Amino acid sequence: MKGVILAGGSGTRLNPLTRITNKHLLPIYDRPMVTYAIEALVKADVTELMLVTGGTHAGEFLRLLGNGHEYGIGRLLYAYQERPGGIAEALALAERFVGGDRVVVVLADNILERSIAGPVRSFQRQPHGARILLSAVDDPAHLRHLGVPALDSDGRVTKILEKPDDPPSHYAVTGIYFYDERVFEVVSTLEPSSRGELEITDVNNWYVERAQMEYDVLDGFWGDAGESIDAYYAVNDFVRLHGANKG
Ligand code: TTP
Repeated sequence: MKGVILAGGSGTRLNPLTRITNKHLLPIYDRPMVTYAIEALVKADVTELMLVTGGTHAGEFLRLLGNGHEYGIGRLLYAYQERPGGIAEALALAERFVGGDRVVVVLADNILERSIAGPVRSFQRQPHGARILLSAVDDPAHLRHLGVPALDSDGRVTKILEKPDDPPSHYAVTGIYFYDERVFEVVSTLEPSSRGELEITDVNNWYVERAQMEYDVLDGFWGDAGESIDAYYAVNDFVRLHGANKG
């Protein structure tokens, strides 16, 4: 399985910090944010990675990561996204790298307390389709800013809603996605959304509509450090006290 780390985007919610650097180079506790996504993948034995980034600070990633060997990466490739056209557009840049294999995609501003080794193994056993990781979120006001799955009485995902006024469950879709080899075909059929981006939720709903979307519910902390400056500090505080990507 290949790993793709998405570290492009505009990071406007962390302005003005993101006017002077890329969001994923900002510190989380004692190291740059992007290194947590790398650690999550390497600890799950996914060591063939592509990092997708963009903007004026893209070169800094090479300075930080080099060939990746110091981080336990076997092979590290880089792709440059010309403009922040959405998560699914960023993923499309990895098509040749993934080359018909399966892929796990990690948004580099998502930080997890626990290792993703278990979900990686579950996806390896899954015959086909996609897999998402859900995190329980109690606050409905918070859920209204996130992707939220609707579940039927058997617990299967029936739809994923982006920023729903009326959240259909108490789970958020986190920024770790697993796809089979059809994902790039799906991305190629997408039309830009009203915000002009190719949306990963549309990709996920393609699999949901075919009853080929599985999920795990995460134990432990999940944070999106790019959500707001308060979320950024909450993630920093959590990691300083409890660590991340623990086995
Ligand atoms: P977002 O946080 O949704 O978008 P953003 O990083 O542009 O931030 P903001 O909304 O504050 O302007 O993106 C989630 C992750 O996806 C982020 O960690 C980087 C990645 N991403 C890309 O790689 N390319 C893109 O075009 C976008 C929109 C996001």
